Amino acid sequence: MATILAIETSCDETAVAIVKNRQVLSSIIASQIKLHQNYGGVVPELASRQHLETINPCISQALAEAQLDWQEIDAIAVTCAPGLVGALLVGVTAAKTLAILYQKPFLGIHHLEGHIYASYLSEPELQPPFLCLLVSGGHTSIIYVKDCGVYNMMGSTRDDAAGEAFDKVARLLNLSYPGGPVIDKLAQRGNPQAFELPEGKISLPEGGYHPYDSSFSGLKTAVLRLVQKLGQEEDKSLPIEDLAASFQDTVARSLTKRLIQCALDYNIRIIAVGGGVAANSGLRKHLLAAATEHDLQVYFPPLKLCTDNAAMIGCAAAEHFERGHVSSLTLGVQSRLAITEVMNLYQSSAGGELV
Ligand code: KG4
Ligand code: ZN
Repeated sequence: MATILAIETSCDETAVAIVKNRQVLSSIIASQIKLHQNYGGVVPELASRQHLETINPCISQALAEAQLDWQEIDAIAVTCAPGLVGALLVGVTAAKTLAILYQKPFLGIHHLEGHIYASYLSEPELQPPFLCLLVSGGHTSIIYVKDCGVYNMMGSTRDDAAGEAFDKVARLLNLSYPGGPVIDKLAQRGNPQAFELPEGKISLPEGGYHPYDSSFSGLKTAVLRLVQKLGQEEDKSLPIEDLAASFQDTVARSLTKRLIQCALDYNIRIIAVGGGVAANSGLRKHLLAAATEHDLQVYFPPLKLCTDNAAMIGCAAAEHFERGHVSSLTLGVQSRLAITEVMNLYQSSAGGELV
């Protein structure tokens, strides 16, 4: 299998990795979290400027740690969509420049495909078809992975993404950004049954609710009301650990229920989870228990490869490259791109059009 140098700059991590045979030879992640923490979220302009500062050192470090030189790299891959346009541009420009300079094939990669294939990095046997639960700061999707590049969207969120819900609830509990890891830590010391919170549902016009779609805005509002009510009860501090545990448990149960239902309805026996929220201990616990109960196999990426990194981008690129998919150097960046459209990023390496 090919050795891929991959770059990821779609949001607030400047990341470069080298991947071969589902093995991470190096993975450099320069996090910008401290830069954005004061603002409670990512400031796009600051993110692009910081990517510019860090991208070249990250590339050099990735090569040095893998102990490789340019001759040993078979292709250059980069996240080109979706994401912050200015941030994506830094990575894509760097990748194209390297591809031209060292005369390497160039591949633009959809960020979510990276999250889908992150589990490959710890599971040499995992192959499509499988069902993927993708839970990140911007997405909550259930995707049927028929093959690399061939995806069916089975369910999504109608409002806040799962990670976004963690970040917003953390903010209203006065916790730091990003909220997911902080809530996860507090939740482990709290009682998940302390407060009953509503699981969001998307109603159908004909009655009932959409079985695979999620909604977290009602849950977020319920936590806000609860915090306001508890705040009015004087001389008591907020039971922050119980609140975190109850919120996390509700999200985990709701995601697990939808995912397992979809797997059973379509008789898909293998599940992979990806995205920052795949690191969540509550989700892992609920999903593993439900998978065992229904005799399904469930795979999670290694903890440090759940959140944004370039190794997952390299892994997705290796799958495409193996199938002869390469991108044109005229490929642009896109802030939004449906995962069902990924094949538009490629032309065949033989020069013909892909069907
Ligand atoms: O996949 P990711 O790094 O970036 C996007 O593509 O969005 O996901 C970041 C999101 C943030 O919302 C963060 O709060 C959440 O993942 N996250 C977690 C955990 N670690 C990160 N959410 C719940 N539990 C965690 N342990
Ligand atoms: Zn991501």
